[in-house]
Amino acid sequence: MISPDPTAYDMAEHARRYARVSRLMPDVEWGAHFDLVKGIEELKRQRNALILAHNYQRPEIFHGVADIQGDSLALARAAAESDADVIVMCGVHFMAETAKLLAPDKTVLLPAPDAGCSLAESITAADVRALRAAHPGAPVVCYVNTSAAVKAECDSCCTSANAIEIIENLGAPEVIFVPDEFLASHVAANTSVRIIPWRGRCEVHERFTGAEIKEYRSAADVFVLAHPECPPDVQRAADFVGSTSGMIAALERHRPERAMLITECSMADNVSGAFPDTEFTRPCNLCPHMQRITLPKIHDSLMRMSPQIEIADDVAAAARRSVQRMLDLGGQRRS
Ligand code: 13P
Ligand code: SF4
Repeated sequence: MISPDPTAYDMAEHARRYARVSRLMPDVEWGAHFDLVKGIEELKRQRNALILAHNYQRPEIFHGVADIQGDSLALARAAAESDADVIVMCGVHFMAETAKLLAPDKTVLLPAPDAGCSLAESITAADVRALRAAHPGAPVVCYVNTSAAVKAECDSCCTSANAIEIIENLGAPEVIFVPDEFLASHVAANTSVRIIPWRGRCEVHERFTGAEIKEYRSAADVFVLAHPECPPDVQRAADFVGSTSGMIAALERHRPERAMLITECSMADNVSGAFPDTEFTRPCNLCPHMQRITLPKIHDSLMRMSPQIEIADDVAAAARRSVQRMLDLGGQRRS
């Protein structure tokens, strides 16, 4: 029996992956990534590693080396369900921490340890304790874009895909919701639960304006999809408001001729291949933290098995409860 030639397989796989980015990237650029992509694939096999990539990652990572792509909830669940020994999180620090909470026995690598998030940095565990003291009896729900130390102080975690569902399923008349004030106003507009917000903001989404959308709309008929981290006037001007996975599902349902994604702009690059009949137009804001992950850093991280995510046992136990509560309250569903 002739065994398959692994080099030939690599080339076929490489060509298949290029087909997904050929509209965005000249083949010379894709070729320039070849050695690193091959090296990362080899290290993945040696380490029994799984690469997870958030929807905002660079196309050469998203299409070139990722085994699983998705929103923050999908990535955390994939980490827990995988039988890999090593998880490489191509995303930001809170995503790597969440993966570690759900997969405590696995080694979780974050190739750029300085990949933070303005929302996660907007609130501390002490801030949550002070909010609880100011509003006795109100449960605290934290957005997944928070540190493990903050999650440890909360009753349940949520993501943008399930925030409304989690808050309603708590069954309380008022809920403290941290830290994103714009996601809080989105939830408040869609539920009868009274929301006590914090004043955190995403430095990327807060820059979009409703006026920009109106300007685009006056020039062309366009289906507008906005992330709920955008300001309220942007959300009001959009045809659909939802998480990154929710936006993809809405595109699948509507198949618009022209679409504008009001979110981190790598996402339109990453999903455009799956919607060849849709023309994507968008104002472009990049997340500097997401962009810190690069192919050389992924390769280096797998070589050195560093930097690894570690969470103190007492913090991890309490934070895991808050993530588990989200899953128990029905956080499996997507919106
Ligand atoms: P999603 O959970 O929708 O992927 O969003 C995460 C994020 O950081 C958006 O800015
Ligand atoms: Fe954080 Fe905003 Fe970047 Fe998402 S886009 S990781 S919320 S800074």
